[in-house]
Amino acid sequence: MIPPIRSIVPGVLIAAAIVPLPAAAARPAPATLALGCSGCHGTGGKPQGITPVLAGKPEGELLRSLRDFKSGRRKSSIMNRIAAGYQDSDLVELAHHFATGGSEP
Ligand code: HEC
Repeated sequence: MIPPIRSIVPGVLIAAAIVPLPAAAARPAPATLALGCSGCHGTGGKPQGITPVLAGKPEGELLRSLRDFKSGRRKSSIMNRIAAGYQDSDLVELAHHFATGGSEP
């Protein structure tokens, strides 16, 4: 016999509260965030083409550029749109990642 729906729902809610959310709750590693940049800026910020080199630039300079792209203070048709998609904490991690040329996560 099928139990009435009112007796099932609380059990489902309790199960959902106990089971941890694995990947959804975890923040991506900086190297994973940086995958969105490597197509243009190269792995570790060392591009093959004309896109600016990020590797080895001072971390503070990279972070200022990223924040200025996000806020629109610095104009770039590409980077304004890209930076807008990241939280400030992501920009901090990305600046650190590229300042070390990708050698630190
Ligand atoms: C579609 C290509 C593309 C992608 C993807 C991209 N960028 Fe850029 N980026 C550019 C271009 C082009 C410039 C030069 C813009 C300018 O100076 O007007 C630039 C400039 C920059 C600068 C300033 C560099 C300097 O020396 O002034 C930083 C910092 C930067 N990008 C970081 C990133 C980060 C971090 C990501 C990933 C979240 C990223 N970019 C993704 C194309 C891209």
